[in-house]
Amino acid sequence: MFMDREAELKKIHRLIKKCTKCRLSKARSNAVPGEGPIGARYMFIGQGPGKKEDLTGQPFVGKAGKFLDELLKKNRIDRKKVFITSTVKCLAPENRLPKKDEITACLPYTLRQIKLVEPKFIILLGRVAMKAFTPFKDLDKYHGKTIKVAKKAYFLTYHPASGMRFPAVKKKMKKDFKKIKEL
Ligand code: URA
Repeated sequence: MFMDREAELKKIHRLIKKCTKCRLSKARSNAVPGEGPIGARYMFIGQGPGKKEDLTGQPFVGKAGKFLDELLKKNRIDRKKVFITSTVKCLAPENRLPKKDEITACLPYTLRQIKLVEPKFIILLGRVAMKAFTPFKDLDKYHGKTIKVAKKAYFLTYHPASGMRFPAVKKKMKKDFKKIKEL
């Protein structure tokens, strides 16, 4: 059964690689579908690929990725055992926030990934992911909490790029990641 899901996931990732549904496809070097095993306990969803991700086609391999790796390692969460992706799969010019129509165009891919991977918990990294997948808007209020939306369990925390820049956010992220391990 996993085999079928594996094949289906590969197919979705091929479609993402060729996707031209929104303007972000025009300037990208590589779309970044994400990576990780079917049946992963945790799926992490960020905002969108940065420069390094765009060049390599892999998620969270730049500076923010290194910080994410650090947080995972500290909490003995094996990166190879989690699924990692982003809300939009293509780099936005000058790393601007993805626009509403770009998020809407990409959303079905991530929902398909969630359906195939069947994670127990979906960890939303930052406000873009929070707003795309939940009706919530106030991350300061809801970070560190698990909420159920359409029968899926979402855990909210900040984006690693924000944690790297702001010591107060870093502190909150460290606490949130401890909770993830205990979910
Ligand atoms: N930020 C994201 O949201 N995703 C990546 O893959 C890299 C940085």
